[in-house]
Amino acid sequence: MSSEIQLPSVNKVDLSQQHIPQEKVVVCRGRSCRKYNAAQVFDNFRQNLPPDVELMSVQCLGQCGNGTMVVVEFVDQTWYSEVHPDEVKIIIQQHIIGKSPVKEMLYPKFHK
Ligand code: FES
Repeated sequence: MSSEIQLPSVNKVDLSQQHIPQEKVVVCRGRSCRKYNAAQVFDNFRQNLPPDVELMSVQCLGQCGNGTMVVVEFVDQTWYSEVHPDEVKIIIQQHIIGKSPVKEMLYPKFHK
């Protein structure tokens, strides 16, 4: 008689194959947002974002006149409007690192 216990077989999950959502920052660098110094906003994100956060630029987010438009994506989307280059560090510190959106800077059309 064996004293070995038979455990039910379990399908192992390969975690390396799991889709883990990546945090992403999208900066609009379209014609309208360029008037609001979108290039400097983008550069400030590029120089200061943690390395595991993806940075993208787009040519228009469809919200012209409210630039510079910035979207932070992680599970859901958080939209920021009228982002000035000096305000990039606030978004990084409070939202990206602190996980708390900067309420005063949210785009009111999408966040009430
Ligand atoms: S150019 Fe930025 S929203 Fe259209």
